Amino acid sequence: MGLVYDSRMRAIVIGSAAGGAFPQWNCGCPNCVAVRAGKEGYLPRTQDSVAITANGDRFALVNASPDVLAQIRATPALWPRAPRHTPIGAVVLTNGDMDHVLGLFSLRESQPLAIYATPAVWRGLEASILLRTLKRFEGQVVFRPIALGEEVALEDAAGAPLGVVMRAFAAPGKLPVHLMGHAAESAEDNVWLSLRDLRDADAKRGSLAYAAACASLEGVDLAGHDAVLFDGTFFREDELVRLGLSKAVAKDMAHLPIESGSLHAKIDARRKIYTHVNNTNPILGPTDERRAVVAAGWEIAFDGMEIEV
Ligand code: MLT
Ligand code: MN
Ligand code: ZN
Repeated sequence: MGLVYDSRMRAIVIGSAAGGAFPQWNCGCPNCVAVRAGKEGYLPRTQDSVAITANGDRFALVNASPDVLAQIRATPALWPRAPRHTPIGAVVLTNGDMDHVLGLFSLRESQPLAIYATPAVWRGLEASILLRTLKRFEGQVVFRPIALGEEVALEDAAGAPLGVVMRAFAAPGKLPVHLMGHAAESAEDNVWLSLRDLRDADAKRGSLAYAAACASLEGVDLAGHDAVLFDGTFFREDELVRLGLSKAVAKDMAHLPIESGSLHAKIDARRKIYTHVNNTNPILGPTDERRAVVAAGWEIAFDGMEIEV
């Protein structure tokens, strides 16, 4: 894959699995066994993250997964262009879940970064002493609070524009597991994003919606986007229970299941793509469930998928 310096906004899905990745290190479910064995129709996946660019030159990461170093290694567009350099200027956090924030600590090599997060998500990070490693010098991490519903042009730590305009909206979600019982729940715990090209004042170009963790579509209006990346964590509400892996159902984990939730929901978008797919989800294999998803007009994200809007 060569570098493509184009003039359209595009997203590279650098990780398409839910927390735990695919295969998950401690999982012997049928999917994880199949992908380890290299069975046809199964692709390994790293944890949920998307790189957004307007010009192919500067990028914003949406979420920083524990796999971020491997994801950058696998994505030439994200490689340095100089002896000490990164095209990544900002990281946008859509919640404080471990699979979305742990990668921050792997990006600590004295690299200035802008971090966009809601004040609630930022407070959760500040509660960890580890955040100090991103504050080795003034300006290493520049926190830019996300205000729900307000349009913001993304900038790097020095204030240079990245060419992408973002709006964040509350998405039905939950506190990160490690903060449950330790922080008050807030509408700012989990957001979905609407992203468009800064040059696109008249909405002539496409826009992208990202809602990788979404417990319900109530009040979440994804209509009008060119491409929608949506929560594909679970196919069924009781997927983990059926496999004997957990007592938790999708609702307990604030993920709308595909079959009874998003699959036939009316989402007016040119492309609808499931991402943040859990390793137990049958759509990860050549199954009836995958065929049903494709027949309903959905795509399934994979690592390295490029979405031009
Ligand atoms: C989720 O998507 O539900 C979380 O990543 C789960 C977790 O924090 O383990
Ligand atoms: Mn997750
Ligand atoms: Zn598994």
